[in-house]
Amino acid sequence: MNPCVIWFLGLSGSGKTTLANALFEDLKQKSPSSLLKKLDGDLLRNGLNNNLGFSLEGRTENIRRSAEVAKLFYESGFVVLSSFITPTHQHQNLVTDIFERDNQHQNLFKIFVDCPLEICEQRDVKGLYKKARAGEIKEFTGISSPFEKPMSNTVDLIIDSSQFTILESIELINIKLAEKFFL
Ligand code: ADX
Repeated sequence: MNPCVIWFLGLSGSGKTTLANALFEDLKQKSPSSLLKKLDGDLLRNGLNNNLGFSLEGRTENIRRSAEVAKLFYESGFVVLSSFITPTHQHQNLVTDIFERDNQHQNLFKIFVDCPLEICEQRDVKGLYKKARAGEIKEFTGISSPFEKPMSNTVDLIIDSSQFTILESIELINIKLAEKFFL
C-alpha cells in the first residue's frame, strides 16, 4: 500500500483507536511490506504534546503538531493511522490545510467515527465521562467542550460505530480506501 495518512476523528469513546488498531492488524496481514505507524492523542499528549491542555487553543496546537508529525511519517514512506478527537471544524480544516500546503491532500483519508454521545458515555471505556459529569474534568469534549460533526463533504468516510461491527467497519474502510487510492 502506498504511503498515506488515515485520520480518524470523533468523540472520546467513539471507537477511533479500536478501528485504527483493527485496521493496523488488517493492513499488516494484507500488505506486510508496508511501513505502518499508529499515532493518537493519548500517546502524543504523553510526550511531544505534554505541555498542552484541552482548551480550544491547546487542542489546535495539539492537532497542528500531530498532523505535522503524521505528515513527516507519511513523507518517509509510512501508512499512518492517526486517532484524534479533532473536535471543531477549525481543527478538522487545519488537518486538511497542513496536507494541502504541499499538495498532499490526496493522500489524506479522513474518517469520521460518528457515534452518538449517549453511547460513548454508556461505554465510558476510560471512566472519563463519569468524571466529566461530576465536574472532575473540565472542558470535556461533548460535555463541557464542543464537538462539531464534520460536513460530509469534508471527510472521505463516515462510520457509525454503534451500527456496524468492527469487521464490517474495516471492510467499509478497505472499500473506500481502494476507491480513493486505486488499490
Ligand atoms: S483533541 O481534542 O486535542 O483532538 P486528543 O485526541 O488529543 O484530543 O485527546 C483525547 C484524549 O484525551 C481522550 O481520549 C481522553 O483520553 C483524554 N482527555 C483528557 N481530558 C480530556 C478532555 N477534557 N476532553 C477530551 N479528552 C480528554
